[in-house]
Amino acid sequence: MTASVPPAPCRAVVDLDAIEANTRVLVASAAGARVMAVVKADGYGHGAVPVSLAALRGGADALGVTTVAEALALRSAGIDAEILAWFYSVRDDVRVALEADVDLAVPSPGHLDPVLDAARRTGRRARVTPKIDTGLARSGITLDDWPALLDRLVDASEAGLVEVTGLMAHFAHADDPGNPVIDEQVARLHECVREARARGLECPVNHHANSAATLTRPGDGFEMVRPGIALYGLCPIPDDGYGLVPAMTFSAEVLMVKKLAAGQGVSYGHTWHAPRDTTVALVAAGYADGVWRLLSGKLDVEIGGRRYPNVGRVCMDQFVVDLDPDGTGQADPPVRAGDTAVLFGTGADGGPTAAEWAEALGTIHYEVVTAVRGRAARQHVRAGRQGGAR
Ligand SMILES: Cc1ncc(COP(=O)(O)O)c(C=O)c1O
Repeated sequence: MTASVPPAPCRAVVDLDAIEANTRVLVASAAGARVMAVVKADGYGHGAVPVSLAALRGGADALGVTTVAEALALRSAGIDAEILAWFYSVRDDVRVALEADVDLAVPSPGHLDPVLDAARRTGRRARVTPKIDTGLARSGITLDDWPALLDRLVDASEAGLVEVTGLMAHFAHADDPGNPVIDEQVARLHECVREARARGLECPVNHHANSAATLTRPGDGFEMVRPGIALYGLCPIPDDGYGLVPAMTFSAEVLMVKKLAAGQGVSYGHTWHAPRDTTVALVAAGYADGVWRLLSGKLDVEIGGRRYPNVGRVCMDQFVVDLDPDGTGQADPPVRAGDTAVLFGTGADGGPTAAEWAEALGTIHYEVVTAVRGRAARQHVRAGRQGGAR
């Protein structure tokens, strides 16, 4: 019998039932609008294919990705739902997208050229979603460029080269509900839709809302919403009372436990010295796996229902936690080699969360979950949670 390879010492376990339940929360919040589940960047690091399937089970109507390659990976996995991709180069040959029934955003006037070229060469009518810059000033057709582009879209539609499925835009301040720019952006997209319809483009499905707007502004009057982060159970706004369940639990094995004498410096640079005799555990994940070195001394892990602080620097493959931070003695039963340390997860029972890491790092939880990598083995489970709309 051949010996098996030892499993990865750290893992990201993704609960697909949580994704499904979170999708239901968003479907309810969308109040009748269709839901496009945003599964770009490998499903925000959770695994695009299983996440897409879970979101579709939860009631999502369509999938949104950044690149054409991301869309094609979903098609290759047998997913036949509507998919929209919003990034490609003006120099790309996008025939492959049309052949795979992938809808394309048109984020600038120049992007219509490869789409028209692909439509002519394949004989297929491209389904396009012009992306309007209603105020984010990132990708999107400027309001100055819109009238001329609209002329071209009308011509292309009459020539049978494109079908304009609707217009889209993206918010700058949706995570700050009440910010007046949100209303301005909504008004601008409505105006563009009106102009397109007045020119005979039906634009049946228009969308502006990301997660934050889906949760806070169900009445904006567009036909679809486009949430991402909330699918993964991470709330983009301070009010977290929506019943979202974080889907990813990042954990690592306790490799060893050992005693330290008072005064002993720990890890590179000895940035921490044991204030008393204590016991520490070595946790088998490091910055190469997505445990940011900037978190050194700022992160806790949960082992056996108790939180323990990291001490000393986070290294490439490992970090140390103090098992007796209060000097009151070790937990009973004590932590042992082979135990599991939760780095972040649902936060149930007070455990650490990705949002906590983001706070400590001065970033957003989006960046935390998409940064899990390296040796972290991703596992998909169905933990059987039955979340729901509040
Ligand atoms: C164009 C577009 N739509 C929707 C989303 C989803 O946003 P969120 O994850 O905040 O819901 C994103 C993500 O950044 C995006 O780029």
